[in-house]
Amino acid sequence: MPRDHLVLVGLMGAGKSSVGRRCAELLGRPFVDTDELVVAMAGIPFDDLWAAEGESGFRARERAAVADATASPVPLVIACGGGAVLDPDNRRALRARGFVVWLAASPTVLASRLAGDDSRPLLAGGDRATTLTRLADSRAAAYEAAADATVATDGRTVDAVAASVLEEFESCDA
Ligand code: S3P
Repeated sequence: MPRDHLVLVGLMGAGKSSVGRRCAELLGRPFVDTDELVVAMAGIPFDDLWAAEGESGFRARERAAVADATASPVPLVIACGGGAVLDPDNRRALRARGFVVWLAASPTVLASRLAGDDSRPLLAGGDRATTLTRLADSRAAAYEAAADATVATDGRTVDAVAASVLEEFESCDA
């Protein structure tokens, strides 16, 4: 099985979906967002799913979505939910079938990009920059273990980040 998917990982607000969509357009291949796939497979809205099943139910469904996306015989661009790489099975599947790029951003930039967006339950209540700093610290090792390449996103446009991602992807011999 070739490692032909392009996979984007990183914290909430890193730009995985917007950069992933742009990369998919430029590569002329389908785009899959694991959060959207979870919702499509569950057949209920994200908020209802999280409320009914909690984070552990969501993570089990996310594992199934990662397995489903990575098994695609059609080369995809896959944007992973920010916590997907915490699961060793997900990391294995993503690396086995894809070239993984970590979109890195500082917690303050992430917090400003996510201002006014209430769609992330892990950011509910509390100071967002503080929560994002804690998540950045606790997840850095998992992103590093998952990633074949890292692209910085602070102060950069979607097009500029997508260009850097594709440069990394096209220079790899996956
Ligand atoms: C999460 C990130 C979210 C979504 C869920 C949990 C996380 O996806 O999967 O709210 O644990 O970081 P995005 O990274 O696309 O926002």
